[in-house]
Amino acid sequence: MTADHDHVPILEALAEYRGKGRLAFSPPGHKQARGADPAVREVLGDAVFLGDVLASGGLDDRLTRGRVLERAEELMADAVHADHTFFTTCGSSLSVKAAMLSVAGPHEELLIGRDAHKSVVSGLVLSGIDPVWVEPRWDPRLRLAHPPSAADFDRAFDAHPGAKGALITSPTPYGACADLAAVAEVCHRRSLPLIVDEAWGAHLPFHPDLPSWAMDAGADICVTSIHKMGSGLEQGSVFHLQGDLVPPQVLKLRADLLGTTSPSVLLYAGMDGWRRQMALHGKELMGRALHLAARLRTSVERIEGMHVDGRDDLCGAGLAHDLDPLPCVIEVEGLGISGFRAADWLRQHRDIDVHLSDHRRIGTQVTHADDEGTVGELLGALEDLAQAASGLRPVPPVEVPDPAELRLEQACAPRDAFFGPVEEVPTDRAAGRVAAEMITPYPPGIPVVLPGERLTEPVLRYLLTGRDAGMNLPDPSDPGLGTVRVVRESAE
Ligand SMILES: Cc1ncc(COP(=O)(O)O)c(C=O)c1O
Repeated sequence: MTADHDHVPILEALAEYRGKGRLAFSPPGHKQARGADPAVREVLGDAVFLGDVLASGGLDDRLTRGRVLERAEELMADAVHADHTFFTTCGSSLSVKAAMLSVAGPHEELLIGRDAHKSVVSGLVLSGIDPVWVEPRWDPRLRLAHPPSAADFDRAFDAHPGAKGALITSPTPYGACADLAAVAEVCHRRSLPLIVDEAWGAHLPFHPDLPSWAMDAGADICVTSIHKMGSGLEQGSVFHLQGDLVPPQVLKLRADLLGTTSPSVLLYAGMDGWRRQMALHGKELMGRALHLAARLRTSVERIEGMHVDGRDDLCGAGLAHDLDPLPCVIEVEGLGISGFRAADWLRQHRDIDVHLSDHRRIGTQVTHADDEGTVGELLGALEDLAQAASGLRPVPPVEVPDPAELRLEQACAPRDAFFGPVEEVPTDRAAGRVAAEMITPYPPGIPVVLPGERLTEPVLRYLLTGRDAGMNLPDPSDPGLGTVRVVRESAE
């Protein structure tokens, strides 16, 4: 039977709920906005409260006999060519942990590209899975990490024949994509599953000119944030599943360990609506976004001192396999300023927020929501930034280590370091000690240091000079990084 993508089961059930004027003597206590504070109603609008109903025993009946959520998930699975889709409401931060738990358990090995998001590291701490780190492909020129290659995973499996599967991040927050089909083949040759953290790839299935996405490339599980590149509300995430290496019941059971018993129907509705929008109009909308991104890229290139990282910079031998052009990563080093300064100036002087920023670039993400007007405004602001750059110098230098120096020895399991005896030591005396916490520039959220890794001078200098230059480091217990939490010396 072909799926009818005109349908939006969650939205239809919400409309019916409202149409019938259902009266709830159950959570949520605001009861269709009536009990909400007027000031909150004023700012949020009643629509938020009207869509905020109990999932079972409200939207659906108490035994979910209407299969409202299931039907929405089935339509999503159909739209992205998965066998099963599960909606979740705590971002891909939850989904990726559920995916990991469904492939490996405590003290079992999982191959993971070291350019993983901090939620993957949290997953290791919570689960006790032993990571086998697979080196990303480091570009020493741009000081960027791209996903590891299939050969890298192949070698890691040979060295760790007991590993239960692999996890790769693709696209990266910089738009760099792995050769997922080749990595999946390496896993499947050993009858092992591949998890793809595709948090940045919600849009990929909907236009032939975008890079291949995990389900089409043969991955077993893929995790996608519908809110990042799609139209879902913040925290709306899905995991897609195919094949028989991970039974859907196992994934569901393990996800249930982490999920809430009060999922937000608003988030479900956002995801359901996104699927319909993409299934019906995705090609046209993504085609427009691609056109706008191409225009932005060409125009930024004309601004003196700026350069947009393109295929020539990011893809090729030893680099990424493919590029999603919608995240436009703009180098501002040529202006003599840092990405941190550029991001702050754009927000303060032009009311424009960019996505990631680092010591030398900013990331501006184009989506199907943009048009000539929004992209024109961004371009104008970037031109003004170039004019204003001389007033933003000098910038404090960030001492970025070479790729080899950036990699730390994993002295013990992340979980052991995190939960074991710890102490705080001054950061300038922490070299040689084993970290008991994560230290992560955010965004993009890839930990520079994770629990169990042995700290070194170059990495600590990078973090301290980064902090002084404006790097956002939200993780450590001392946000000012005056001290670092390390494994107690007697326990090392
Ligand atoms: C690669 C990657 N995976 C997972 C996540 C977590 O996603 P979420 O913010 O939806 O929890 C992020 C968030 O930035 C990410 O960049």
